[in-house]
Amino acid sequence: MLMAAADARMADVSIFSPASPQAGWIVDLAILTLAIIGIIFLVVEGVLFYSVWRFRRNKSDVSGEPAQVYGSEPIEIAWTAAPTMIVFFLVLVTTRTLWQVEASPVKPREGDQPLFVTVIGHQWWWEYRYDSYDGRSIGFITANELHIPIGDNQTARPVHLTLQSGDVCHSYWVPRLGGKVDLIPGRTNLLSFETTEPGLYLGQCAEYCGAQHANMMLRVVAEPAAEFEAWLAQQAQPAVEDAAVAEGKAAFLANSCVNCHRISGTLADGNAAPDLTHLMSRETIAAGQVPNTLKNLRTWVHDPHEIKPGVLMPAFGLSEQEEEQIVEYLRTLK
Ligand code: CUA
Repeated sequence: MLMAAADARMADVSIFSPASPQAGWIVDLAILTLAIIGIIFLVVEGVLFYSVWRFRRNKSDVSGEPAQVYGSEPIEIAWTAAPTMIVFFLVLVTTRTLWQVEASPVKPREGDQPLFVTVIGHQWWWEYRYDSYDGRSIGFITANELHIPIGDNQTARPVHLTLQSGDVCHSYWVPRLGGKVDLIPGRTNLLSFETTEPGLYLGQCAEYCGAQHANMMLRVVAEPAAEFEAWLAQQAQPAVEDAAVAEGKAAFLANSCVNCHRISGTLADGNAAPDLTHLMSRETIAAGQVPNTLKNLRTWVHDPHEIKPGVLMPAFGLSEQEEEQIVEYLRTLK
């Protein structure tokens, strides 16, 4: 199970299988650059090996040594000009790709049904504030798993992310969908992409942001527009009320959980930790680190550091009964 998950992850993060035009332009540039440096490598190594072979020492014959050249203007000019031209060419094509990737969202097309989401990077999870879709404003907040729509008949729906940080620098990188863009405290950056291929896209925070940087995973679920609409409607609902878990809810609200987490429709309204209103609609917990199973949720509530050492949520030392009640309550938050 874990290996299968790891294999899927390896397959899903290759920059060489782009699933958006933006990622496609970036991989084109990467291939061009690799080809140029590959040719340079072959030429340099070729000349080196030729020289080693051609002028190898031969005991019976010392006349095979090459004539020494002391100062040559044409050679100096050639090996200064050639690399300069190559670097200049790479700067030009890189600038063009940067411009292409950044300019693409600026020009809205006829019939676009864009999705706007504000992403806030936190140590060590992602907050998603759904702002608007197809001109309609949306107001819910979720965490760690971004859902995006795909239009009918292979049409793309542009996704525009507004990137901000709640603490330190992070970097948003889903290799198959686009390039890396940093989330910088006090600044707003933009990232846009679109895809016509449904599926799960994985990514990773790409800027060192503290102890759990490597476990700040990204999950993007691209789904057909109808499914996406259903997901939107479901996420906009307040949390499910279930009398059977009233004790767990009371325990949750009576403890420090409420200072950081939000559960819409209750008094819990913190925004320092993931919104739990629809926790059970997410496949993973701890920013994509482990599957959202009963066992993992129990471990997390008991002591999150067993899963994510250094995480800002402490082990609260609740009684076993309280922990179990809280887990039962959380499990109803569909
Ligand atoms: Cu967030 Cu690295």
